[in-house]
Amino acid sequence: MSSGKRILLIIGGGIAAYKCLELIRRLKERGHQVRVVMTKAAQQFVTPLSVGALTNERVFTDLFDLDEEREIGHIRLARDTDLVVVAPATADLMARMAGGHADDLATAVLLATDKSILVAPAMNPHMWLHPATRRNVVQLQLDGVRILGPATGEMAERDESGPGRLIEVPDLVVAIEKALAPEGLKRRSLAGRHVIVTSGPTHEPIDPVRYIANRSSGKQGHELAAAAARLGARVTLISGPVSLPDPKGVHVVHVTTAAEMLDAVKAALPADIAIFAAAVADWRVAHPTTDKIKKSAATTVPTLTLAENPDILRTIAQSPDARPRLVIGFAAETQDVIAHAKAKLKAKGADWIVANDVSPKTGIMGGDHNKVHLVTSSGVESWPEMNKAEVAARIIERAALHLSVKRTAAE
Ligand code: C5P
Repeated sequence: MSSGKRILLIIGGGIAAYKCLELIRRLKERGHQVRVVMTKAAQQFVTPLSVGALTNERVFTDLFDLDEEREIGHIRLARDTDLVVVAPATADLMARMAGGHADDLATAVLLATDKSILVAPAMNPHMWLHPATRRNVVQLQLDGVRILGPATGEMAERDESGPGRLIEVPDLVVAIEKALAPEGLKRRSLAGRHVIVTSGPTHEPIDPVRYIANRSSGKQGHELAAAAARLGARVTLISGPVSLPDPKGVHVVHVTTAAEMLDAVKAALPADIAIFAAAVADWRVAHPTTDKIKKSAATTVPTLTLAENPDILRTIAQSPDARPRLVIGFAAETQDVIAHAKAKLKAKGADWIVANDVSPKTGIMGGDHNKVHLVTSSGVESWPEMNKAEVAARIIERAALHLSVKRTAAE
């Protein structure tokens, strides 16, 4: 369980302000105390009443509120906290921060604080890319402020897209907890956990020298295993035949066929997290021959009879006793990626599906980059293109966060 910290959240005025309600809920759920300052513009988007109902605290809005000054002045508000978070940060609020303004409660607190400040911008892409905003971002970074995002995607305005969306709430929670964690613990959020990862293709024998395979390189699965190990987990990587080195600090079980992979996964249980990134062959040859099939003029072209392989993800996700707390599947598709992933989430009983488009034009299969959609029961997040190590780090950070919330709820 995360030990509760005090967070001062400054909500700026923007359409994304409503997402702060979700952020507050998540932070409270994790045992943190959240105190909120709202700018005047923010109150056009969410009311102090609804924010206060979630924080169970008075919401601060006015620098010259005498009561406020008597009970808790802006200097105390700025200092009696472990971290200051500005979300969403508008272009105007960032400009005023960069300029050292202090003409309202939000800016006065930001100037008076002696704690770290995280800023999550949200604005129209043109405003984000404007030279003035660029200058302000550089200035804020020079002043030691950490900027989170923004994410790229559709805007509230029709037909507008680009950089400027508030980063996803779970990513904000990850960043906040990272900033709050003591140095030694920062990178060990999976300590004491067991993570199983499947990776690579499987080879299904036809005869002693031939087999059915696919183009999976194992890069994404191996990166996931490495990322989990970096966060302190005990990792069992069950890998089909790949030409990659074994990741450092990871126990690797090498297998060839789907049947062997399933056996190895079962043998590795119990686990807290299981990630099925392998491209398992759906079918195997029903009766592989012990001798090489000969090409001879006398015989006709051989016919291969296929048999269905066990579905490893479904078997483990639906196992009544040994189901890991978090089961993550991958969906490699060449069309209707998200629709198929949603269907797969249900059919297989996974908690999350990481979906990607592997049609040859994307170069994802075997390549170093990946563009994925995270499909969960609460919705779909489309992540920007990243290299496979970055995708892995983000999935693993999310998984660590998810696990700690679940444990907190159960305790
Ligand atoms: O059904 P499909 O193969 O598209 O599902 C992909 C997901 O299911 C991946 O997570 C993959 O590792 C897993 N899978 C499995 N065993 C199979 C087939 C797929 O674990 N036989």
